[in-house]
Amino acid sequence: MIDNQTSAQAAPTLEKKDADWWRQASVYQIYPRSFADSNGDGIGDLPGITNRVPYLKELGVEAVWLSPFYPSALADGGYDVDDYRDVDPSIGTLEDFNQMVAALHTAEIRIITDVVPNHTSNRHKWFEEAIAAPKGSPARDRYIFQDGQGERGDLPPNEWTSLFGGSAWERITEPDGTPGQWYFHLFAKEQPDLNWDNSDVHEDFLRTLRFWSDRGVDGFRVDVAHGLKKDMDAAQEGPWTTDPDEIFAHGEHPLWDRDEVHAIYADWRKVFNEYNPPRMAVAEVWVPAHRVARYASPNGLGQAFNFDLLKADFDAAQFRKIITTNLAFAAETRASSTWVFSNHDVVRHATRYGLPKGTGRRNEKGTDGIDWLFAGGDPAEVDAALGLRRAKAASLLMFALPGSAYLYQGEELGLQEVGQIPQADRQDPIFYRNATEVGRDGCRVPLPWKPHGPSYGFGSAGAHLPQPEWFANYAVSVQSTDPDSTLSLYRAALSLRRRLQGEESLEWLKSRDEVLHFVRPGGWHTIANFGTSPVELPAGEVLLASIPVSDGKLPGEATAWVLNSTLNVDCTS
Ligand code: NOJ
Repeated sequence: MIDNQTSAQAAPTLEKKDADWWRQASVYQIYPRSFADSNGDGIGDLPGITNRVPYLKELGVEAVWLSPFYPSALADGGYDVDDYRDVDPSIGTLEDFNQMVAALHTAEIRIITDVVPNHTSNRHKWFEEAIAAPKGSPARDRYIFQDGQGERGDLPPNEWTSLFGGSAWERITEPDGTPGQWYFHLFAKEQPDLNWDNSDVHEDFLRTLRFWSDRGVDGFRVDVAHGLKKDMDAAQEGPWTTDPDEIFAHGEHPLWDRDEVHAIYADWRKVFNEYNPPRMAVAEVWVPAHRVARYASPNGLGQAFNFDLLKADFDAAQFRKIITTNLAFAAETRASSTWVFSNHDVVRHATRYGLPKGTGRRNEKGTDGIDWLFAGGDPAEVDAALGLRRAKAASLLMFALPGSAYLYQGEELGLQEVGQIPQADRQDPIFYRNATEVGRDGCRVPLPWKPHGPSYGFGSAGAHLPQPEWFANYAVSVQSTDPDSTLSLYRAALSLRRRLQGEESLEWLKSRDEVLHFVRPGGWHTIANFGTSPVELPAGEVLLASIPVSDGKLPGEATAWVLNSTLNVDCTS
């Protein structure tokens, strides 16, 4: 493939000597098409991000992670990449990218970009070559092609299903017009899986990593990092369970979390270490905690998401167990832990925590609230006030933990999931491939910057997903001047977090069952009350609380930070 020839020299790098900048960073995820639209075409773009760098600076984040901005037909929100080394024309140009990096770096904000190695789009030059080339050709070997079953090969090679629903196999028409082979796709049919046993694939991704690193990118978020290596012969012999817990439990599944995948990341690590400071990487892996460690190894990607808090109930015991387990794994690998409640793939946590009783993760265990809205739950039933109250408490707790905090655009506004999107406006392939789920569009609706005007200040025209009227109440300009807003809480928390963070450790102090109390070195106490009755705060200066505190008592479903450098005894009773 030919690299785009636009100059790479324009973007300055942040030559901070600190190679470990990522270990405890607050990272803000931008879903570029829904962040800010600078040219009024209804689609967020790179100049829109550049214009909002002062907002990001004031918010206090140390890095942004950009979901894909590459040329794409948007069969999966940009995770169907046509060209890994260019920018989609609807989002900007490489020159815009350089300017955005320069603006971020001048504001001392690092940039992490998404790399999508499991699959290309079906419009990628390689895939077009593959279907134009004959069976068994080198061009086809870059993907996973197989003959179909049955006399005429008109049945898929096996029963595997796509994560988005339907078969994981799609049949092509051969160059001579006859029905032909089938290709494998873990996601949408527009996302053919690459064959990571093919050396072209290896080399090309090393080139891509260098291409963006040369442009000043500080790190990479690696999409579906646990899916690249596959044993397709074994897959055909199944049946393998499709139960997600079973799939990921043993590392023996033909498609997921195979040990061979780590050799790929060992090679990537060598590229990251060619740079000063070394480029960081964070793996998107949906595997059990004990399997996360190898992705996060210093010889591998260096850091990995753990989605455990995101999947948990608002429950003290669950939170404590998850925090303890993940800090122990982080200590083992020498990576820092990651924490996240919301991203572009899940129902926003301000909504999850307000789900109606009996339908999901509210005051109960064992049901999957994350999927509740996806499965068509009625958003009118959500207790938005309760959800937001708990979300603020949970986020303040997260910001006090050792490790990186990943936040998703809009959560600093306390945004709720948008449940009611007309069918005709839906974009997520999950909606189209799956009879029961509405998909992820509800967390991808463009941000409200103002309480009025076209697209609530997102741009000068409409937005590519419809924004509900209640977005006005959450607008940035409304919250900016309100000291009690969610935005003000996030700004204060992120700024304090920067000052208070030191050594990556915490000590648990004894507390009531429904309360978590821990202290970081220097006397930074966090008291999180998951119950509904107030709890006495320890002596010291109350630095910040998720809701107002009076008489030294922390109300229910709230978190407070207290500074007391001498206090390390049990105090919360
Ligand atoms: C994970 C991404 O976060 C998600 O949005 C995407 O649909 C899949 N990977 C496929 O790339």
